[in-house]
Amino acid sequence: MKNLLVTGGCGFIGCNFIRYLFDAGNFTGRIINFDALTYAGNPLSLADVARREPERYVFVCGDIRDAAAVGNVFDEYDVDTVCHFAAESHVDRSIVRPDDFVQTNIVGTYQLLQAARERQSHIELFHHVSTDEVFGSLGADGFFTETTPYQPNSPYSASKAASDHLVRAFHHTYGLPVTVTNCSNNYGPCQFPEKLIPLILLNAREGKDLPVYGDGMNVRDWLYVGDHCEAIWRVMQKGRRGETYNVGGNNELPNLTVVHAICDELDRRLGPPPGHGTRRELIRFVKDRPGHDRRYAIDIAKIRGELGWTPRESFATGLARTIAWYLDNDAWVAQVRSGAYRDWIQAHYGV
Ligand code: NAD
Ligand code: TYD
Repeated sequence: MKNLLVTGGCGFIGCNFIRYLFDAGNFTGRIINFDALTYAGNPLSLADVARREPERYVFVCGDIRDAAAVGNVFDEYDVDTVCHFAAESHVDRSIVRPDDFVQTNIVGTYQLLQAARERQSHIELFHHVSTDEVFGSLGADGFFTETTPYQPNSPYSASKAASDHLVRAFHHTYGLPVTVTNCSNNYGPCQFPEKLIPLILLNAREGKDLPVYGDGMNVRDWLYVGDHCEAIWRVMQKGRRGETYNVGGNNELPNLTVVHAICDELDRRLGPPPGHGTRRELIRFVKDRPGHDRRYAIDIAKIRGELGWTPRESFATGLARTIAWYLDNDAWVAQVRSGAYRDWIQAHYGV
């Protein structure tokens, strides 16, 4: 792996993965970060990496839907390995506007696979990052395994399921060397504040309402992003080609418990919000998400047994690190929320 193309490297998980590879010191090649800089992409998340690693880190502003741009990046940088994160990733947005999800997640993944296939003799690995949401929703018992049938329920999960199937088909039909990971809900530094944990964290810090969908008893398995990055890298290095691996945090919690934990930790660090005894008083139960999946839970036996990976962070330690990061990084938060910053990105990168 000399020239690793990371798609979506300016997003939440992608930027943590690039940082992880440089920090862990066990990757010696070059990383080409190919990202279209949608609302979810922030090039400044990696500004320090770009300064520190001018030879080994390259940013290319480009769209995975654009076959010519994708082909050019493979050729110009002699790409031999791909780690594919780029996607539209928020379920609520997919309900309002599924079109972008079909175009980026399905067509964009196809364009990348096609570019890799056209240069197949040169490709060591195409790793595809996916979600446990492709398996649908669980009842009170049971876990998703790698053989659980696909039953996606939202436009987001349907588009990710389609992309998983394309990756599988390119392996079986054309022999493209692929691996796939399907992971649970990530949290940690640099997550755009539309997902549950950063949204609640920032609203709670600012004394704003905390919207909880339905009865707040939907269950997610929370995976600290650093653990996820380690799992992806383990699969890329040691995973069997053509296989999929489930990645989870062993932290199954109802949403309301997550919201309470954030409120309590912020109360402890900052004192109660103005006009309230505790941040829990800011919770508002709001209209449920249409088609809201009730429970996700992951069986990590395969990745643990074959590759020796288990998550390091408990929810308490991961949440403490996440809260500390958001409290210490006001500038990042202000950037991703600011229209002026989006204008700067547009002027600077032409997107
Ligand atoms: P994100 O929304 O934070 O970032 C997505 C990145 O992709 C952004 O930088 C965006 O600019 C870029 N992008 C979007 N459309 C693009 C396009 N057409 N061309 C090039 N770049 C484009 O997403 P994330 O949370 O970092 O998720 C990364 C991957 O992990 C996704 O494939 C997602 O489905 C998967 N995943 C995420 C989670 C989670 O909890 N966040 C859980 C399971 C799986
Ligand atoms: P989210 O972070 O959007 O991830 P996903 O839908 O991919 O699991 O949501 C996590 C859970 O939190 C999900 O059950 C929906 C719920 N939720 C709320 O209750 N309030 C919110 O404001 C958001 C964004 C999510």
